[in-house]
Order: sequence, then structure tokens, then C-alpha cells
Amino acid sequence: MRSLPLKGAISDDQLEIIIDGGVLVENGIIKAVDTFSKLKSEVDSSDIDYLEKPTVGLPGLIDAHTHICWAGSRAKDYALRVSGKTYTEILKEGGGIYETVEKTRASSEDNLVDLIEKRAKTHLQNGITTIEVKSGYGLSLESEIKCLNAIKRANQTVSSDLIPTCLAAHVPAKEFNNAVEYLHYVENEILPQVQEKELANRVDIFVEDGAFSVENSKSFLHSVKEKGFDITVHADQFTSGGSKLAVEVGALSADHLEASSEKDIEFLSQSSVVANVLPGASLGLGIPFAPARQVLDKGGILAISTDWNPGSAPMGDLLTQAALLSAYQKLSAAETFSAITFRAAKALKLSDRGILNPGFLGDIVGFPTNDFREILYQQGQMKPYIIWKNGTKQ
Ligand code: NIG
Ligand code: FE
Repeated sequence: MRSLPLKGAISDDQLEIIIDGGVLVENGIIKAVDTFSKLKSEVDSSDIDYLEKPTVGLPGLIDAHTHICWAGSRAKDYALRVSGKTYTEILKEGGGIYETVEKTRASSEDNLVDLIEKRAKTHLQNGITTIEVKSGYGLSLESEIKCLNAIKRANQTVSSDLIPTCLAAHVPAKEFNNAVEYLHYVENEILPQVQEKELANRVDIFVEDGAFSVENSKSFLHSVKEKGFDITVHADQFTSGGSKLAVEVGALSADHLEASSEKDIEFLSQSSVVANVLPGASLGLGIPFAPARQVLDKGGILAISTDWNPGSAPMGDLLTQAALLSAYQKLSAAETFSAITFRAAKALKLSDRGILNPGFLGDIVGFPTNDFREILYQQGQMKPYIIWKNGTKQ
């Protein structure tokens, strides 16, 4: 995938397939990608992981949007939604995210570390070697720091890379009179601590009815940017407005986009902001997928992530979700793989992964097939059988 463009549509014949290929990795970094016969003379045979069965190798997968730092379940919400209640109604009645906040606040940091580790390990088995993880179920200085600490600790024990994001601006905490008051608290009390303790250099906000308005989010994001944070936005999930704001403030990505208008997609696609669509949230909420095809046709940068969280996206299976989205939105395999590798890396501002090329991390996943098309065709049922993280077999 090393010669594929960062933006726009891609056809499968643009994939550069190396038959009988090999990857030479030294100290965790790729040194060469070529045919096995050319590379094998450069290393001791005892250092070769020789694959007996037909294998398609891809860069380690990247999930650029998750909320896997949570405690408790929201099975009750799910049942309410399938019987007709909407996500926003549940939220406005003080349930939904607030229910998870209660459970997460009551959970110890150690317990959260265990939960994150467990979820990250499941992800690694499915080929995901880099995972963005948001806080956002704390909504107080103490609990947000606890969540970000838990993410930091889990990152030290799991072999995948966890990229932390502070989503203290998920919804206004109930202890405050209004959203503006709470955003001031996030800005003046929480973020300075996050920065001082070096817990995250990314900040997210949920721009939505029942969460934060475009106007309030705008001034918050401008000052967050001034503090030196990178920005990402929960945008256009139920109502339009967030993606336009994401472009205006220079966010790294605008995530969701289920409710984006054609004009929104056009504006976003002309920018360098990654359009990060979250099919798992559509599947969890029973709503249409984001217009991923349109993003590509208008020249945008498409990433696909799971949004793994207890409320809207409980499944958390990236490959299954990407495969389903590709069937519904008519995405080529090249577009789909790009969206969960190097284009997702762009959403996280990571320039060292997502492609198998010299200088990049030795993050590689192998699927048991000799035809790359099998992977999406099997809609997530074909799992990678071999995974290397930084060149080390997992
Ligand atoms: O991306 N929409 C806001 N945040 C999450 C859901 C969080 C939750 O419901 O617990 C999302 O869908
Ligand atoms: Fe989310």
C-alpha cells in the first residue's frame, strides 16, 4: 500500500502486491520490503519467521477512535432503543453517557486498567496494533485524571500502542449549571493538569444537541488549541455543524458524520481534516452509515474506526465493521484497508506506521489466505493468524 494516495478514491489495481514477499525488520523498524528470496540472504536463518501457509500481510491495523476506558454495561439502553427510544432522548433524561459516568467514577483505577487491557488484547488478536483511547466518562478533575492514568498504565503493559485523548468535554457534568460553566472548568482545571502530568496531547469534544453547541465548542476549541493540544471532534452524529467547525479550527479529524449534509462532506473533503467514520455506532444505534463513498469521491481522507464504547458502539470489531461499511458504501478493498491503516494514522498524526515501507514500525498482520479479497469477503470472520508489533511476534 506504499504508493497509495492520502486523499480520494483508490482502485484495487493500485495495490502493489508482492508475491512471495518478505519484510526485513531490524530493532522494531522495517528495513526492507521485497521478495523473500532477495531478503533472506541478509539475515541468519534462525531470525526468520518463515510462513508455511499462504498469507496476506498488511500493516498493523489502526483504530483511531475508541472509548475503551469504561466500567459497566448499557444493555438496558440498547433494549430501550430497539423498543423505540432515541439515543438523544435517553441522554437528555440523564441516562446514557451519564449512567456510564456513574459506573466509571465508582470504579477503581486498577479495575479500569484491567478493563482497558482486556479490550486492547482482544483488539490485538484482531490485528489492531494501535488504538486511540478517550477518557470522557469521568467528567471531573479527579475522575478524568483517573481514566487518563489508567490508559497510561495499560499502555505500559499491553503490546499495542494506546494513544490517549482527553474527552472531558463529552457532555456537561451534572454538577454544573450549564455547558459554558463546565467547559470553563475543563479548560481551566482539567486540561492544565492533563498537560502537566503529560497524560494526553489530544482533546476531543462532542458537538451535539444535548452535549455542546457549535458556538460553545468553537471558543473552547480555540483556547484548547492555543494551549498546544491537537484537536479532534465528535461531529455531525445526529445533527450537522460539527464537521464544519472541525475544519474551521483545524482539527486532525472529524468523526461520525452520519448526519453530514452534502455540503458538509464537500467542505470537509477539500480540507486536510480526516473524515473518520464509525460504522460500529450506526450498527449499535440502527441508523444509516456515514457517506464514506461521498468523502472519497469528493477527494477527502477517509478513515474507519470502531468508536468502541458501551452506549452507541458495543461491538468493537474493526474488521467486521469496515467490511460491512465497504459492502454498503461500495468501498474498494484498497480504500477500506487504507482507512484502517495509513489514513487512520493520519487522524492520529502518526507518520511512523500504517504502511509497510522502510523506516516504518514493524507492525504487521498476516491473514491465512493468498487472496487479499478474501479478507473483506469474509466480513470479519477471517482473523489474522500472526501478528508482529514492533517486529516482535505476538
Ligand atoms: O461516539 N457520541 C458520543 N460519544 C460516544 C458514545 C458514548 C456513549 O454513549 O457512551 C460516541 O458515539
Ligand atoms: Fe465516540
